Amino acid sequence: MIIFDKVKKIYGQRAVLDEVSLSIEPSEFVSVIGPSGAGKSTLIYTLIGAEKINDGNIVVDDFKVNIMSEKALQMFRRKLGIIFQDYKLLAKKNVAENIAFALETCGFPKQNTKKRVEEVLKIVGLENHADKFPRQLSGGEQQKTAIARALAHDPKLIIADEPTGNLDPESAEEILDLLVTINKGGATVLLATHNKNLVNKLQKRVIRMEKGKIVSDLAHAGYYL
Ligand SMILES: Nc1ncnc2c1ncn2[C@@H]1O[C@H](COP(=O)(O)OP(=O)(O)OP(=O)(O)O)[C@@H](O)[C@H]1O
Ligand SMILES: [Mg+2]
Repeated sequence: MIIFDKVKKIYGQRAVLDEVSLSIEPSEFVSVIGPSGAGKSTLIYTLIGAEKINDGNIVVDDFKVNIMSEKALQMFRRKLGIIFQDYKLLAKKNVAENIAFALETCGFPKQNTKKRVEEVLKIVGLENHADKFPRQLSGGEQQKTAIARALAHDPKLIIADEPTGNLDPESAEEILDLLVTINKGGATVLLATHNKNLVNKLQKRVIRMEKGKIVSDLAHAGYYL
């Protein structure tokens, strides 16, 4: 489903992704760990076509990401579920409206929107917060809203960059549990994180990056963390 083939991304003189090759199958749950500056976010930005690469190829299903036009990339991104550390919710829209707006953007049938918003709010446990605005929610609740938004259009691939970075351990665990649930439903999950404890608990595939290179790729984290 995802292939990186000798991907190079250079900022200035430095290779931030240095011949990165990897392959991720449908329905896998893959964590990417590594110290700050290792290239985790760059890996994700290049995967979604938000950053251009200097060499190599990136393929996601039938999409040749690195040679697509900006317009084609916009369509491609609408098929993904993307979650960031800082939630990126619209402050002037309430929880339900944030999700409905995202559905509208990706062409979801309007007559089904209300029902789908209710469904995903239930999945993340926010059914009683639909009318609240982001500023009225805790960090964990905001991230759950962002997850509900990311999964509303039923994407086959969920990409999360440090989704627990601003959260207390308990909320972080809840967010991880949600990602695991989504993965059990069949979606592929790619998670970039610093949080070794959570990754350890996951017991799923872990790719470790250092200085733009993949230094290990193991079926389970437990061996060495
Ligand atoms: N737009 C940019 N221009 C120049 N250098 C950049 C740019 N974006 C990232 N970098 C550099 O690329 C390297 C990798 O950054 P990246 O954000 O991918 O790391 P990361 O592994 O996600 O780190 P963190 O754990 O802190 O989020 C860093 O050294 C960073 O300074
Ligand atoms: Mg990062």
